[in-house]
Amino acid sequence: METVYEKIYKKALETPEDFWADAAQAVQWEKKWDKVFDDSNHPFFQWFKGGLLNSCYNALDFHVENGRAEQTALIYDSPVTGIIRKISYRELQKEVALLAGAFQSLGMEKGDRIIIYMPMIPQAVITMLACARIGVVHSVVFGGFASQELAIRIDDSKPKAIVTASCGIEVERLIPYKPLLDDAIEMAQYKPEHCVVFQRPELSAQLLNERDHDWIEIMNHAEPVSCIVMKSTDPLYILYTSGTTGKPKGVVRDNGGHAVALKWSLTNIYDVNPGDVFWAASDIGWAVGHSYSVYGPLMQGCTTILYEGKPVGTPNPGAFWRVIDQHQVKVLFTAPTAIRAIKKEDPTGKYLKDFDLSSLKSLFLAGERLDPDTYHWSNKLLNVPVIDHWWQTETGWPVAANCMGLAPHRFKPGSAGKSVPGYDIRILDSNGKILGPYEEGLIAIKLPLPPGCLPTLWNDDQRYVNSYLSQYPNYYFTSDGGYKDNEDYLYIMGRVDDVINVAGHRFSTGRMEEVIAGHSDVAECAVVGANDLLKGQVPVGLLVLKNGVDRNKQIITQEVIEKIRSEIGAVASFKTVHVVKRLPKTRSGKILRRTIREIVDRKKYSIPSTIDEPEILQELEIVLNK
Ligand code: COA
Ligand code: AMP
Repeated sequence: METVYEKIYKKALETPEDFWADAAQAVQWEKKWDKVFDDSNHPFFQWFKGGLLNSCYNALDFHVENGRAEQTALIYDSPVTGIIRKISYRELQKEVALLAGAFQSLGMEKGDRIIIYMPMIPQAVITMLACARIGVVHSVVFGGFASQELAIRIDDSKPKAIVTASCGIEVERLIPYKPLLDDAIEMAQYKPEHCVVFQRPELSAQLLNERDHDWIEIMNHAEPVSCIVMKSTDPLYILYTSGTTGKPKGVVRDNGGHAVALKWSLTNIYDVNPGDVFWAASDIGWAVGHSYSVYGPLMQGCTTILYEGKPVGTPNPGAFWRVIDQHQVKVLFTAPTAIRAIKKEDPTGKYLKDFDLSSLKSLFLAGERLDPDTYHWSNKLLNVPVIDHWWQTETGWPVAANCMGLAPHRFKPGSAGKSVPGYDIRILDSNGKILGPYEEGLIAIKLPLPPGCLPTLWNDDQRYVNSYLSQYPNYYFTSDGGYKDNEDYLYIMGRVDDVINVAGHRFSTGRMEEVIAGHSDVAECAVVGANDLLKGQVPVGLLVLKNGVDRNKQIITQEVIEKIRSEIGAVASFKTVHVVKRLPKTRSGKILRRTIREIVDRKKYSIPSTIDEPEILQELEIVLNK
């Protein structure tokens, strides 16, 4: 007999327009669409063309007008400051409407961009929603990125304003954001007209000139404004993510398709309904934070949690269990790394004993591979379903999962579940031929992508086509490798490009190589991702020094580590560098990164037939395994 999931999956595959038109009923439209799906400008598809709505209205005003005004919309839980603040839908709407008014007074108009470079404080969420309210496209840059990375994003998105806070708090260390921002603006060619600074009591930032504004001051002079009407296909935000080159990709998200997909996913994948407490323990600088700390749960009328802390050390490995108990969390979504960090410090789960976790119905994990050990440990400890699910910044919502709202199917540890309705996942060989069960290949999604997925890259349609659509006609190429079993369960084996995954965060090894190559003593270099028990992967750098360099090698490697920290950010966790005489290459001069990775991981490797000088591999083994 057909299961609920199979029935829905088939419907989405066979009659996608009917399926998504039904799903779109859950969203509040100012005017319904003329066409559910428009492919007239192939491959630049459009969902809900002609539809008019506002994402902020869906996230706030609708709930205020429909009985949820006094419900807590957002709980700010900050163990690093000791603050717990509950903000109702009414309060959040008020603050957002005021800030939107303040932005308009600064001359911000529909289509302008604002960069948000902020820690995990409510003002970050308020800024995102204020942008959505007046049609300004926001681009959140993760607060752990250094000035240079911020400068690259300023030059690409050309924001009229940047909103920041005086500092972030990394456990006990204050990170002054304003000097980082000032440096970034100095480095960037494009100069924003305004900077708005939220002063935190822990550290006051210096406002330099008429470009800089104090958040409280502009709010004090502002008048609240209501939501403007946006086209379904207008951009809501840009979120930069690592590609294989040094230049990040500006993933664009639209308004209509995004709202429809998120609402559908909350109900059907996460089984979370209005009034429930949903906690995505991710920074708002990443896709998970956008979709599942901010837009998704608020559009669904849930209570969302903004947690400014770590899984361990703030103050101990019981931190997550405390939050679940205290705020009655129904579903927790985090990265496997966070669970591994807790497991490492509290392997027997003794911190759990102080808390009542009866509100918790499931734990969703994504962002990196979920190793079976972490799966079994958390499953046994929490005694709730632990669901591995797979997606990317580009898709904005899960591609494969076990849908908890659709009578979930059997769990298979090691698998990220099955295709979510709306996606048609295929495993291809390098020629684009479809592979069968258990055959490992490249993971691709048959076009069109469902609502919510990226319609293009910011200001770079051609790169969108080149990066995702040109490899295999009629497919979106995910850059992940893997296989399906005979029941269509998907197994993700990792990236097939030069992107690595460090603690659930995506980094480009190409970008790291670009930074290292800027060191005056380095002739050439390679960076690969090495397996790491805590963070999944960590970068390892190999350097070849220029002829004649006789400075102390330890000093040079320290300088290189410092260079990555100051140009990309400490969050890249770049701590291991080796100086080698030569890098292994093919006869055509391509660095054999895969072989290097195998040696770094102390795996058995086969000598590639294309290698130029095989003896280099033994030299490498000696250096790397020392
Ligand atoms: N601003 C400035 N610096 C930051 C930062 C921020 N927002 N976020 C992280 N950093 C710094 C850290 O202080 C650390 O610096 P250090 O090398 O000087 O110690 C470095 O970047 C690495 O940070 P992090 O990855 O957080 O490692 P950690 O060792 O401090 O903590 C974990 C390890 C596992 C607890 C942490 O990685 C974690 O919580 N991971 C979960 C990630 C997650 O939720 N991902 C969601 C994606 S779905
Ligand atoms: P990001 O765009 O930062 O969310 O990173 C997306 C990448 O993270 C994917 O392309 C995968 O390589 C990896 N990833 C995400 N979820 C999973 C998962 N459940 N299992 C394995 N890898 C994952």
